Amino acid sequence: MPMPSQKIMRLGLGFVVSQAMRVVIELRIPDLLASGEQAVDDLATATRTNADGLYRVMRLLASEGVFKEGAPRHFELTELGAALRSDRPGPGDFVQMINSEAYLAFEQLLYSVRTGKPAFDKLFGSPRFDWLSQHPEQAELFQRAMVALSQGSNEAVAEAYDFSPFTRVVDVGGGHGQLLSEILARNPHLSGVLFDLPLGVAAARQGAGGNLPRTELIAGDFFESVPSGDLYVVKKVVHDWDDERATEILRNCRRAMRPGGKVLVAETIVPPGDEPNQIKGIDVVMLAVTGGLERTEAHYANLFEAAGLRFERAIQTQGPISILEASAQA
Ligand SMILES: C[S@@+](CC[C@H](N)C(=O)[O-])C[C@H]1O[C@@H](n2cnc3c(N)ncnc32)[C@H](O)[C@@H]1O
Repeated sequence: MPMPSQKIMRLGLGFVVSQAMRVVIELRIPDLLASGEQAVDDLATATRTNADGLYRVMRLLASEGVFKEGAPRHFELTELGAALRSDRPGPGDFVQMINSEAYLAFEQLLYSVRTGKPAFDKLFGSPRFDWLSQHPEQAELFQRAMVALSQGSNEAVAEAYDFSPFTRVVDVGGGHGQLLSEILARNPHLSGVLFDLPLGVAAARQGAGGNLPRTELIAGDFFESVPSGDLYVVKKVVHDWDDERATEILRNCRRAMRPGGKVLVAETIVPPGDEPNQIKGIDVVMLAVTGGLERTEAHYANLFEAAGLRFERAIQTQGPISILEASAQA
């Protein structure tokens, strides 16, 4: 057992590892190591970096299990490191995204704790999604990070719900489109609508989340209105917003919904107690970056009610995500 002071120092050094990961991902070191072990001097030449500086970062990450130092100053990929290769969306996209602008906003987390407002807006002069709309490269990385973050969850949502009574499913804030792709692949009777800001729709159009047959891609603002359909899927969107804004999105689904329609909010529920859970970290990211929050089941039920919807039931999927189903209030 480490002494309390050592444990505290390790916790306090968390940013060192996360920023070191970002550096090796940006330099594409995992790609360079894909064919086998390499000397750090060769990696430094290939990436035009300082060999000693790179060595120290690689040694740190080897101590965390991302690389393995075999012969002195020679590194190879471990299973963890291999997951950081860039040939498909993966956790490296998330690490890179969260350690960029979001990391800078986090330096001002105390501002968010004092005011309840996102530090991101103060630092960057506009809200997160407006800022992304002005920065296409970062928006593309954001969508890849969302695909990575969704691994396991999209299939789990598509598997856990009976889509047979519906005809037209609208994925509100569907971004890259992977959830819709999984739903449509399992339900050939359904047509789909992928609704997002222009940059999210662009990612879906490029196939970032997979095939989207029988799908209309519609760009718009869910605070104004959403397209008509009989099933609304809203995954990892409500958590980006405070209660007032989240209610507006759900109310717009309620307004556009055909009779007998349903709204499915797919989110990770904050568990009670002190157990470690990634969602508690994501919740604090929401505080500093978007102004949103992670919620309990009772909190989601209140949002539905405020939006004119009736909370029907929560379905725990096989993944780390729940489906909260609501229908129109009578
Ligand atoms: C956290 S991502 C979730 C994406 C996807 N549903 C998923 O589960 O991976 C939130 C999505 O909401 C979209 N979004 C943000 N503001 C929006 C707005 N005003 N209107 C429509 N979409 C918006 C973003 O572009 C992004 O794709």
